[in-house]
Order: sequence, then structure tokens, then C-alpha cells
Amino acid sequence: MSAVPLRRSLLFVPGESRRKIEKSTTLPADSVVLDLEDAVAPANKPQARQIVREALQSLDFGTRERLVRVNAWQSGLLPDDVRDTIAARPDGYVIPKVNNVEELRHACAVIVEHARAQGLDAQRLAVLAIIETALGVMNLPAIAAFGAPLQALIFGADDLAADVGMIRTPSNLEVLYPRTAVAIAAAAYGLQAIDLVFFDLHDEAGLEAECRFGRQLGYSGKMVIHPAQLAVVNRAFSPSAEEIARAQRIIQAAEAHGYSAFALDGRMVDAPIIKQAQNVLARARAAGLIQ
Ligand code: COA
Ligand code: MG
Repeated sequence: MSAVPLRRSLLFVPGESRRKIEKSTTLPADSVVLDLEDAVAPANKPQARQIVREALQSLDFGTRERLVRVNAWQSGLLPDDVRDTIAARPDGYVIPKVNNVEELRHACAVIVEHARAQGLDAQRLAVLAIIETALGVMNLPAIAAFGAPLQALIFGADDLAADVGMIRTPSNLEVLYPRTAVAIAAAAYGLQAIDLVFFDLHDEAGLEAECRFGRQLGYSGKMVIHPAQLAVVNRAFSPSAEEIARAQRIIQAAEAHGYSAFALDGRMVDAPIIKQAQNVLARARAAGLIQ
């Protein structure tokens, strides 16, 4: 499998809207997710599949990753979603409401089967799983351990709230446990962790704060639902100039101290701090901010 792409921003675009899909090809999203699931009314699914297929075949998405969100395994719609879109060669599929590893295995088997039927290399297709049900949270260790082609876990807060009977608040405190659990499960198996949707389209400060906390938890990217959110999210999930400078100073000082514990600006630096600095520099490199 080729290198895992940078996924700071995953822009969701309703699969039934040719206009929004066209617009997405001009927007600064790392990944575009053409949605066949909850953005599309049940009666419009067949039509949306055709629109998505045709758009993937005819539009130039530039360097943006092209993903399709299919319907959940339990819906019974997933095989037709894959069958009708795979010939248009998306870069991968986003699978929602993954309850357990068996569902993920079934979904991946369908993808591989249809890819082979089209003479495509199934190994080139990425899979991203949304964890957004109580069962999905309970079964995180096995889901995260699935292996290729799974590249990322996405945390879906609002379906989870509906499933559990949570009451959503702007504080996000009610989802702190599953949000943390998804980030840790992803890290345990070398997967990317993609954070929840921010629904208020015009609250830039709120979005920025939510991005910052997601990063604090270990998330590397975020779902985006409106073009106005993209700049904030891309910036928030790229290390800042100050973070990069600080990380470079730590690494330089660590090299000078032979990687044993030392003090820098009145704070202790030892192996975990050095590892965090290395993480910052790796993310900066992936975002093209340093060499
Ligand atoms: N992708 C691409 N373009 C989008 C977009 C999106 N997700 N959301 C809005 N746009 C475009 C609009 O088409 C419009 O461009 P235009 O004037 O050239 O047509 C422009 O951005 C401004 O949009 P605006 O008028 O502010 O929003 P709206 O009322 O058209 O749409 C939503 C609001 C919420 C319906 C829309 O943002 C959307 O569809 N979001 C994604 C929904 C989704 O996929 N949900 C499932 C995943 S959680
Ligand atoms: Mg959902």
C-alpha cells in the first residue's frame, strides 16, 4: 500500500449535489468525502450513487483524496453503494457505524470483490471506519487491530449520542470518554484519528477551540461540513511556527545532552518530551512546513 495521505480536513459533500461536488474540487480540503449515507435521503440513494460515480469519473479533484462514504453494513445498502461507485476509482471508502470487526470484514470483502471484478488493485483502496455506536466503542480494540486496508478511525459524536441517549452540549464533556478511547485505539495500531463534526457553521472561535482540544487528545484531523471551516481546521491540525521552533530546540538540546534528562527554560525534558517534539516535527514534515 502506498503512503498514508495527510488527512487534516475531511470535507463531507452530499452525494446527490453535483453543485457541491463541483465546488469541493476548488476547496482546500485534504480529503473530499462524497456522501451516500446521512446527507442523502433514502429515496435518493440510487440517484446519488450515479451522481457520485459520474463526478468521480469526470471531475479533476487535483491532489485531494477522493473518498466515498457508503451506508452502514447493517443498512444492506453498502454492497450496491460499492458496486455502483468502484469503477470510478475512488481512493477509498468511509464506512459508518462500524459496530464490530465482523462488519468491517464484511464491508472490506465487498470492496475487494468489486475491485477485483473491475480489474482494479484492491490494495490501493483505503478504508476509514467511523466509530459512532455504543457497540463500536465497546469493540474498539478489535476494530482498531483489523489491519490493512484500515487507515483511520473517525469519531462520530452525534450518532453515538443518539445511540446512547446522551444529551449533547457545547462542552463535549459527555463524549470525552469515547472521544479519548477512539484516539487511543487508533494510536495503539498506528491509525490516524479523525475528530467529530462541529455543527455551528459560523462560530469560528468555537471551531478553533474544538480543534485545539482534539489535537490535545491526539487527533490528527477533523471532519468538515462547510467550506468556511476548512482554513481553521487545516491550520489547527498543522503545527504552528512556535510549536515547530520549540520542537526543533528540544531535539537540538537533546542531541547536545546525549538524550538524557535535562532542563530547558526551567522545565524538565526527557524521553517522552523528546518523542512529543519528534511527533510535532513529523506532522510539520507531512504538512510540507519543514523538510
Ligand atoms: N461541500 C461543498 N460545497 C459546499 C458544502 C460542502 N459540504 N457546503 C456548502 N457548500 C457550498 C455551497 O454550495 C455554496 O456554494 P455556491 O453558492 O457556489 O452553491 C457555498 O458553499 C456556501 O454554502 P451555504 O449557502 O453557506 O450553505 P448551504 O445552505 O448551501 O448548505 C449545508 C449548508 C449544511 C447543507 C452544507 O454545508 C452541507 O451540505 N454540508 C455537508 C452535509 C453532510 O455531508 N452531512 C453528512 C456528514 S456529517
Ligand atoms: Mg454518522
